[in-house]
Amino acid sequence: MAAPIFILLPLAFLFMTATSQGQKNISLTDILTPTSKSSWFSPSGAFAFGFYQRGGGYYVGVFLPGTSNKTAVWTYGRDLPPLPRNSTLRFSIGGLVLQSAQAPDAYVTTPVGGTTASASMLDSGNFVLYNSNQDIIWQSFKTPTDTILGGQSLSAQQELHSSASDTDPSTGLFLAIMQLDGVLALYPQGTPFTAEYGYWDSQTPYNGPDVTLHLEDDGFLYLLKPPGVYLKNFTSQGGPREDVIYRARIDPDGFFRLYSYNTTKNDDSSVAWPNTTDRCIPKGICGANGFCTDINQGSPCQCLPGFVEYGNGTAGCKRNFTAESCKKNIEPVPNTVWFDAPYSTLPLLSSEECVAACQEDCNCEAVTYNASRSCNKQNLPLRFGKGVVGGNSNSVLYIKVVDDRSDKGGGNGSAPKEKHTRRDILIAVASSIAFAMVMLVVCGVIVRKNRVWFHEKLPKEGILRTIEDVSPRTFSYEDLKKVTGNFSEKIGKGAFGTVYKGTLMKNLQSSQVVAVKKLEKISSEGESEFEAEVKTIGKTHHRNLVRLLGYCHDGENRLLVYEYMSNGTLADLLFKPEKPSWDVKMGLALDIARGLLYLHEECETQIIHCDIKPQNILIDDNKHAKISDFGLSKLLKPDQTNTTTGIRGTRGYVAPEWHKIQPVTVKVDIYSFGVVLLEIICGRRSVEQTLPEEEAILEYWVYSCFQAGELNKLVDYQTIDKKQLERMVKVALWCTLEELSLRPSMRKVLLMLEGTVDVPIPPLPASFLSVT
Ligand SMILES: *[C@@H]1O[C@H](CO)[C@@H](O)[C@H](O)[C@H]1NC(C)=O
Ligand SMILES: *[C@@H]1O[C@H](CO)[C@@H](O)[C@H](O)[C@H]1NC(C)=O
Ligand SMILES: *[C@@H]1O[C@H](CO)[C@@H](O)[C@H](O)[C@H]1NC(C)=O
Ligand SMILES: *[C@@H]1O[C@H](CO)[C@@H](O)[C@H](O)[C@H]1NC(C)=O
Ligand SMILES: *[C@@H]1O[C@H](CO)[C@@H](O)[C@H](O)[C@H]1NC(C)=O
Ligand SMILES: *[C@@H]1O[C@H](CO)[C@@H](O)[C@H](O)[C@H]1NC(C)=O
Ligand SMILES: *[C@@H]1O[C@H](CO)[C@@H](O)[C@H](O)[C@H]1NC(C)=O
Ligand SMILES: *[C@@H]1O[C@H](CO)[C@@H](O)[C@H](O)[C@H]1NC(C)=O
Ligand SMILES: *[C@@H]1O[C@H](CO)[C@@H](O)[C@H](O)[C@H]1NC(C)=O
Ligand SMILES: *[C@@H]1O[C@H](CO)[C@@H](O)[C@H](O)[C@H]1NC(C)=O
Repeated sequence: MAAPIFILLPLAFLFMTATSQGQKNISLTDILTPTSKSSWFSPSGAFAFGFYQRGGGYYVGVFLPGTSNKTAVWTYGRDLPPLPRNSTLRFSIGGLVLQSAQAPDAYVTTPVGGTTASASMLDSGNFVLYNSNQDIIWQSFKTPTDTILGGQSLSAQQELHSSASDTDPSTGLFLAIMQLDGVLALYPQGTPFTAEYGYWDSQTPYNGPDVTLHLEDDGFLYLLKPPGVYLKNFTSQGGPREDVIYRARIDPDGFFRLYSYNTTKNDDSSVAWPNTTDRCIPKGICGANGFCTDINQGSPCQCLPGFVEYGNGTAGCKRNFTAESCKKNIEPVPNTVWFDAPYSTLPLLSSEECVAACQEDCNCEAVTYNASRSCNKQNLPLRFGKGVVGGNSNSVLYIKVVDDRSDKGGGNGSAPKEKHTRRDILIAVASSIAFAMVMLVVCGVIVRKNRVWFHEKLPKEGILRTIEDVSPRTFSYEDLKKVTGNFSEKIGKGAFGTVYKGTLMKNLQSSQVVAVKKLEKISSEGESEFEAEVKTIGKTHHRNLVRLLGYCHDGENRLLVYEYMSNGTLADLLFKPEKPSWDVKMGLALDIARGLLYLHEECETQIIHCDIKPQNILIDDNKHAKISDFGLSKLLKPDQTNTTTGIRGTRGYVAPEWHKIQPVTVKVDIYSFGVVLLEIICGRRSVEQTLPEEEAILEYWVYSCFQAGELNKLVDYQTIDKKQLERMVKVALWCTLEELSLRPSMRKVLLMLEGTVDVPIPPLPASFLSVT
């Protein structure tokens, strides 16, 4: 009985503060169109809600009608295509209804607290909907896009996303987030929220999740920790209020700026964070495969050799050739530094050795090399590249290129010269092939050596780690009983047995939390088979695979000791009510793809996982995915493989060929990956019996939405890159094709996911035909 009182009080308070600022005067019969009556004004006329024009079309949002470019401060569905002239915005009891070919009957606002009775554009810039009791049931201040206004605040985990450009309000390259640790920070879109990726922050760590960013209507911008601690004042209190509107925005160029706009003079002035004039500070301003050099007035961005700009509006560069072949030349890009994490680091090589190491490795698209003789192998896309001004740093990027001049007929009358170049290239290619062959012979030795070198050179880690890293340690059963406290803390149960948590003492000072898997359904015959499989697993080293630290083969007991992953499984993350952000999910999809690519094509012995599913993918501290349970499928008892439910693998994820007694190939993993990718995209399980029949099987549901051009039905995110969504869906549909020869390789999958190559329209799946 007491509960309603507690809920009603804040609502009434909210209502009072809101209505005291402006008059509500929009009623249920009102209609807006871009051409006739296009907006509703606030009482002062400073703000308007309705259609505003950008580029060739219209958007719906809140804007400043007095500014020459009708500056928008809030936008509905910014990633939808621009609206045509014949769109209409109606006000109904369900909220605002937008009608157009682009957004048929879309709700601009989706109120949860009952039916809408009226709406109001307030003088604060807040657009609100009321129910018949005059309670606010929706307000634009609660869902900011790239701007906060005076009186508005940003609380923990709320984000502002920059626009693509001043003429394109769709989601751009940067975001500002109020972090759970009390820090306001700026990041490039799509990176983990860790210090290495951020490019500016408020320097107010360890203050907890109740810190909020406030902007007052006198231009006072500050971080507040309740009750009443001013953690950081970005500006001072008491600026002029009359005729001045303050707004803080993350701009398309990545800077977070506070603007003050004098409504009578129609001017706009600003202060910016970070406090610098270097346009290259926002990481990734040049997009993928481009780098930033802020030396003159024009665009600071350049593409890597062999790459061309995506075209207008879109930052970044794409390869001007299909990058399937390994035989490529290498071209240096001197005086550039790249911040993105390499997939492999080789210390203390000469620059020639570094280049050769990349040429040798088909997976390597580029290497960075610097004065510390650190050689970093990189995949595409390369991000966060920056030119070094002054030009005598010893940092160089070497990028693989294909000389396309050899395919170009005619040209500009410089044919002899071209021929000459071509011969040079032939010689270069021939010698690099010869070199590659020599390298191949010594490859195994060098790789082994490097691994040992690498660990020996790490100063702080010590000798113990070196030994431990090279091959999995053996444990006795008694050892593991101690490690796990007599198997007291059970953390999971899988196809192979039960998993326990344990603590491994590394030396007197340090310990490591581990997961100990007690194998139960393992065939007891092949003694040597177990050892062989463990050796194979132990040789895998990849950041997207869970590392095997040791094993126990003691009488009947078979146990495996893995690094412990604190954040549970992908299934925990995906299927719980609060969904991870779209960018986090896309990062996870790439992680899984990279791990699988390694298993299929890069490790010494090819490993087919056979049981890819969200329960077998673990999440580490940094929200990166790591594949677990690989290399175990061969160890299952034979009788597990011929029962229908006990097919190696899990129902819903196994490829159709499992049922047809065909040889197992890597394509079974590709199929399962496709299913998992669909689950990641849609945030639901592949089979969901409780849903209506046409939605129950995710694969068919996605395909029918894809065919109908209604991909938005699949996701419930407001702001999402539609092109990226379509690309992901197409890749997943290719992977889940029944005809296994049509399923792409993991390498191709990764290139498609990263956007390096185009994704063709997938063919109609056969199983889909038989269902409809
Ligand atoms: C709301 O009221 C303001 C001022 O009172 C006026 O300028 C505006 O046109 C009104 N809007 C509508 C839809 O009546
Ligand atoms: C309005 O937009 C034009 C072109 O996009 C730009 O040149 C101009 O500076 C803008 N004006 C203001 C006040 O932002
Ligand atoms: C708008 O016009 C286009 C053609 O120009 C038409 O296809 C579409 O159906 C119209 N939409 C509405 C809502 O009238
Ligand atoms: C920040 O602003 C508040 C309110 O004006 C003031 O009380 C406080 O002293 C300021 N803190 C700093 C460090 O300037
Ligand atoms: C805004 O501009 C008007 C006209 O130039 C000027 O009189 C007024 O002082 C300005 N207001 C502020 C707060 O700067
Ligand atoms: C920005 O930096 C300049 C020079 O480094 C300094 O003079 C200025 O006070 C700084 N501004 C702010 C708001 O910190
Ligand atoms: C983008 O490029 C196309 C041609 O490639 C051109 O027609 C169009 O006007 C350009 N759009 C903008 C906004 O520059
Ligand atoms: C990209 O490659 C195509 C085909 O070789 C060629 O026609 C085109 O000019 C190239 N573009 C650039 C910018 O090099
Ligand atoms: C070279 O790169 C490594 C790793 O990328 C980095 O730790 C080191 O500081 C760099 N050295 C120089 C001189 O830039
Ligand atoms: C051909 O090359 C000459 C100089 O080498 C240059 O002046 C001319 O513009 C070029 N023509 C074309 C079509 O690129």
